[in-house]
Amino acid sequence: MSLNTISTQPFDGQRPGTSGLRKKVKVFQQPHYLANFVQATFDSIGDFSGQTLVVGGDGRYFNREAIQIIIKMAAANGFAKVLVGQGGILSTPAASCVIRKYKAFGGLILSASHNPAGPDEDFGIKYNIGSGGPAPEAVTEAIFERTSDISHYLIAQCPDIDLDKQGSFELAGMQVEVIDPVTDYADLMQSLFDFDAIRELLAGEFSMVFDAMHAVTGPYGKTIIEGILQAPVGTVINAEPKEDFGGGHPDPNLTYAHELVDILYGDNAPAFGAASDGDGDRNMVLGDHFFVTPSDSLAVMAANATLVPGYKDGISGVARSMPTSAAADRVAAALGIDCFETPTGWKFFGNLMDAGRVTLCGEESFGTGSDHVREKDGLWAVLFWLNILAVRKESVASILNDHWQRFGRNYYSRHDYEGVDSAAAEQVLQNVRDQFTTLPGTELAGRLIKTCDDFAYTDPVDGSISKNQGVRILFEDGSRIIFRLSGTGTSGATIRVYLESYEADSDKHGLDAQDALADMITAADAISKLRQLSGRDKPTVIT
Ligand code: G1P
Ligand code: ZN
Repeated sequence: MSLNTISTQPFDGQRPGTSGLRKKVKVFQQPHYLANFVQATFDSIGDFSGQTLVVGGDGRYFNREAIQIIIKMAAANGFAKVLVGQGGILSTPAASCVIRKYKAFGGLILSASHNPAGPDEDFGIKYNIGSGGPAPEAVTEAIFERTSDISHYLIAQCPDIDLDKQGSFELAGMQVEVIDPVTDYADLMQSLFDFDAIRELLAGEFSMVFDAMHAVTGPYGKTIIEGILQAPVGTVINAEPKEDFGGGHPDPNLTYAHELVDILYGDNAPAFGAASDGDGDRNMVLGDHFFVTPSDSLAVMAANATLVPGYKDGISGVARSMPTSAAADRVAAALGIDCFETPTGWKFFGNLMDAGRVTLCGEESFGTGSDHVREKDGLWAVLFWLNILAVRKESVASILNDHWQRFGRNYYSRHDYEGVDSAAAEQVLQNVRDQFTTLPGTELAGRLIKTCDDFAYTDPVDGSISKNQGVRILFEDGSRIIFRLSGTGTSGATIRVYLESYEADSDKHGLDAQDALADMITAADAISKLRQLSGRDKPTVIT
């Protein structure tokens, strides 16, 4: 076996976005494209000689090929050991769990999350640091810098590893351990939740459906929900992970998880429904004919955390991404704990969790998690809810109604306009910026505008500053309209409009969110010229 130095040339556009580098599979399949990025990563993360790298992905098309390249490059670059999930599988939260548990130097996670998979669809790669969390911006920027002047990479010349066989193997002087992708994660879940109480719940009248959407959580759901928790076989649907996710779009929201939505809104609906995304970090929670917004889900978890064994002593603080509704802020205030508002993307929660300043974190984009790992965690959120339901013995709807009664309701919705021309999308935001000085003090949608700004964040732990994280119109009554461009798309621009309106009066808590926000929706379009510029008369996705 020999180590080869391969000459290469930089590729444009290898800057990691909100969550790693995401491109079409065809882009990743170009000779040297993936290797360049991996070498740039290895060149930017410090001295890892003698250390362990964790590698795994969501099982999408090109996962196995990518893993073989990465393992051979890890060997050539001086890692002592690679831990890889059997079949190349590790959900994103499971990868985070494994990195932490085995004190790895870091990990490479292969995923484009909920983006469709297959030869003509998306692939992605991201680097997570030793804490188990996504690399901070300083690291991702260093990686990007390196991709622009890379001239060679190192790779071992040797046969592929058999990814389907668990055990320890040697590859070019490096140890490769193929591990069960579920066991470590399942052990962690058992340490946090009252599995006996959940088992009892599932053995009674209560019924549930978990939709793995043909993606990575299939085996996790089968082992934990149907295996350890003994839910009836068939509780986990679409449980077989497929390289193309069954041709679907595994994003657990009301639009793309329609199979689950139809079940929960159909006749004889189960009491609880949940879904996770391509790589297992997102979650959607539904009750019988009831949708829980991710923002509310975070708030309910925070308010009920002490019912769950892993959080019985209380939570140290909460963090939410800026566009996420302020529902959690109200719970934090009642509990007398801090609530942090961070830019979009899980990487901004890492420092706060490492410093012990927050326990629970959440994003409106169907992401919730805690400091048990450093990624958002879909199945963890489902188990958290099951634990609450097992203790409170109430329906999902009644838990939410009770919550709104106590804290008021933050009506919330996000409207996405996908595949918009990039220049037009920029102009939509610019139109709002152009009114930053004139809007405050005026009325919009029957509400008084307090301030407008481009959201900027100073990390309270390391002082790093992130600018231009969303254009905000903030109202006196706490309502908000926010415009942001997606950082995870692979073609054109996606404009996200986030709408929020607070209602304290419990007589007015029964409205449909789109109705409650109707005047805000109209106002958002009027001040940004969104529909005119995008050429769309309605959003692609409403969540
Ligand atoms: C989206 C979500 C964001 C999430 C990210 C990764 O990013 O909005 O909350 O952290 O996916 O799952 P965006 O496309 O908005 O940049
Ligand atoms: Zn994801």
